[in-house]
Amino acid sequence: MNISRKVLTLDEYTIQQVRQIPNATGELSALLRDIGLAAKRVNVEVNKAGLVDILGDAGSVNVQGEDVKKLDVFANDQFTGVLRHGISCAGIASEELDDYVAFEDSVSRNSKYVVCFDPLDGSGNIDVNVSIGTIFGVYRRVSSKGSIAAKEDFLQKGTQQVAAGYVVYGSSTMLVYATRRGANGFTLDQSIGEFTLSHPDIKCPPKGKIYSVNHGNFFQYDKKVQRYIDICQKKDKSNGGPYTQRYIGSMVADVHRNLIKGGIFMYPGTVDKPKGKLRLLYECNPFAFIVSVAGGKATNGIQRILDIQPTELHQRSPLFIGSKDMMEELEGELDKKE
Ligand code: AHG
Ligand code: MN
Ligand code: MN
Repeated sequence: MNISRKVLTLDEYTIQQVRQIPNATGELSALLRDIGLAAKRVNVEVNKAGLVDILGDAGSVNVQGEDVKKLDVFANDQFTGVLRHGISCAGIASEELDDYVAFEDSVSRNSKYVVCFDPLDGSGNIDVNVSIGTIFGVYRRVSSKGSIAAKEDFLQKGTQQVAAGYVVYGSSTMLVYATRRGANGFTLDQSIGEFTLSHPDIKCPPKGKIYSVNHGNFFQYDKKVQRYIDICQKKDKSNGGPYTQRYIGSMVADVHRNLIKGGIFMYPGTVDKPKGKLRLLYECNPFAFIVSVAGGKATNGIQRILDIQPTELHQRSPLFIGSKDMMEELEGELDKKE
């Protein structure tokens, strides 16, 4: 077996970054290492998901006599666990939990960061072997070190993220994370059990050919959004249209593909749900940060996602995200008078 030592693991890469930044404490790289570990554990379980009938269904008891948990609960426990026991995280907010959790031990109380995450995104797709993922955003706490984390630590604007990332459990498992210095992708090398740098310095192509939206909701969307979808479908030499429609129904997989290939992903508000479905803290903000670092854009149709001041942990927001030129084409339509 040939293992190229030119390839950096996630740990090696983050340590290399720490060495380049004067006064860096290494707390962020420790936090990313913890997240990488939880992702590997979740990956193992996601790969076994097709065996539930043999190993036991959620809610039943498995062959070892343990309760079988729903995968999103399992993923939530893994990410919460590594962050609780690590040295960098003062608390977490998760899509799976009603309220945030402040870690009360003295190491956590003195830690710098809090993390907001969606432990398993696209979990409705587990049963049918379609890619799913994890999404996370990291913030420097605003409450004082030494105290336990407070709600205000989690209700920060997306611009305040220090890092954000996601994991896709797909045909290969990949972790992508961004800091202000850039976005990088690491593919899980199953042979050594390590994430290795496979996509250095990811840039979102300014223009793509893919648009991703739930067409079933078309007549529920605002007229201006409908008009933009019409444009996506028109033959037009000036924008290279018609675009290709791709919608997996796992945001992580949809936005990941568009980030790499170029494209636009939309989850607009509908008549019934004017704020759409996606959550600002756990889904919109981390992706808005990553895509912006990579040169793309993200809005709620009115303002930049990253500039929205959150008021509640689980608040939802419409989301339009992707390649810069396509986003500007959309914004042009949304700015027009009816
Ligand atoms: P989750 O599994 O965390 O609840 O999120 C699923 C989300 C997102 O991944 C996806 O883009 C969207 O739901 C799909 O929703 P629709 O089926 O309404 O299009
Ligand atoms: Mn989700
Ligand atoms: Mn989820």
